[in-house]
Amino acid sequence: MEAPMSFSVAIGNTQERYPCRTDQTLLGGMEQLGRKGIPVGCRGGGCGVCKVRIESGAVRRERMSRSHVSVAEEAQGYVLACRAYPQSDLQLQAVAALARCLERRLSPRSPTTN
Ligand code: FES
Repeated sequence: MEAPMSFSVAIGNTQERYPCRTDQTLLGGMEQLGRKGIPVGCRGGGCGVCKVRIESGAVRRERMSRSHVSVAEEAQGYVLACRAYPQSDLQLQAVAALARCLERRLSPRSPTTN
């Protein structure tokens, strides 16, 4: 059996980049960055905390709650990262809860305790 391919995903908010396999969700790959800022949500397309906008590249989407991603938003590239798998190298922008969590870690005012 062939091993799944891996693509490079760039997070516009933080200028980070991570590898993500085609059998791994965008959220799963992001969690492997080891960032504490990644919120733990339902991972099933139901809570909306992992919402991102795909700015370039292709994804395969699984069913997601319309209360979090409307048809119009989906047409603009919004997806739930726990329900989307990379099909090419990607650039994405985190929005809403996920953006706040990622960006908080970059704030110069947040104390570093380690
Ligand atoms: S983690 Fe709940 S919708 Fe993605």
